[in-house]
Amino acid sequence: MYRNLALEFVRVTEVDAVACSKWMGKGDAMACDKAAVDAMRGAFNSLDIDGVVVIGEGERDKAPMLYIGEQLGTSVSDCPKIDIALDPLEGTSICANGGYGALSVIAAGDRGSFLHAPDVYMDKIAVGPKAKGVIDITSSATSNIKKVSKALGKTPEELTVIILDRDRHLDLISEVRSTGARISLIGDGDVSAAISTSYPNSGIDILLGIGGAPEGVLAGAALKCLGGDMQGRLIFKDEEKVRAKKMGITDFDKVYTMDELAGNDVMFVATGVTDGPLLDGVKFLPNKKAKTFSIVMRSKTGTIRYIETTHVLDKKKL
Ligand code: FBP
Repeated sequence: MYRNLALEFVRVTEVDAVACSKWMGKGDAMACDKAAVDAMRGAFNSLDIDGVVVIGEGERDKAPMLYIGEQLGTSVSDCPKIDIALDPLEGTSICANGGYGALSVIAAGDRGSFLHAPDVYMDKIAVGPKAKGVIDITSSATSNIKKVSKALGKTPEELTVIILDRDRHLDLISEVRSTGARISLIGDGDVSAAISTSYPNSGIDILLGIGGAPEGVLAGAALKCLGGDMQGRLIFKDEEKVRAKKMGITDFDKVYTMDELAGNDVMFVATGVTDGPLLDGVKFLPNKKAKTFSIVMRSKTGTIRYIETTHVLDKKKL
């Protein structure tokens, strides 16, 4: 994929982050989401790409904008054909409540680069590079914790497992506790949580549990760039299976490897909306300026760039 597109995509996540961060802490999740979606869509549509949303805000009948299948970009002749996985605001409640770790996120690749995951839940396991190849989502949490501790040269008691704080995870939490491992329970944001397994200083070693499938694909793309590992298994209610079949999914128990979630040449771009473990959030400065903090990664080269940008808000429309 054309590598200079990475900078174009950062502009998109920056514009998005600035727009929705204006709603930070105001308690209005819908306004946060709308600001993010409008800004991201507007920014995408100024790019000379022939883009298609493969992971987006939902299916067309449920999401008016950035829905799965929506065309993005000018589509001028000879422009690159790009599949786009996006989450304009990963952590809508985090932003609305002024919490920790909301992001604006895009992953992009050539056509066919991403699993076309329906908008259902996904059971996930994610680890950083040192534990690559040892995870197995079909085994118990206990078995995975033992294998990951061994790969990291730690005891289970020294391992930290990050889990979304949901009732559906009560059994998982008790099992993890029985291994002696430490737990970090988070309210939202399992993309950032999955990525944190690849940051040694985050203190997080393994992500376990069920979150959104779209977020699973985005996390897979990020971990692919970072050299980590991930597996996911889609979870369907009966009525969701009909839609899934239409999307070409026939094996409802399939375990998706990281390579099946995201292809070999993908980019992952994120800008912090609120301060978080990976990136600082948007800072509004005196004299109509704002600062954003972004990460840009490519799986093909493994390059990771951090971009700190000062925006002069009265010189450009953000
Ligand atoms: P949104 O920003 O779309 O609200 O997603 C936040 C999130 O916490 C994701 O990170 C996670 O995958 C998903 O919600 C979990 O879904 P649920 O809140 O239904 O348990």
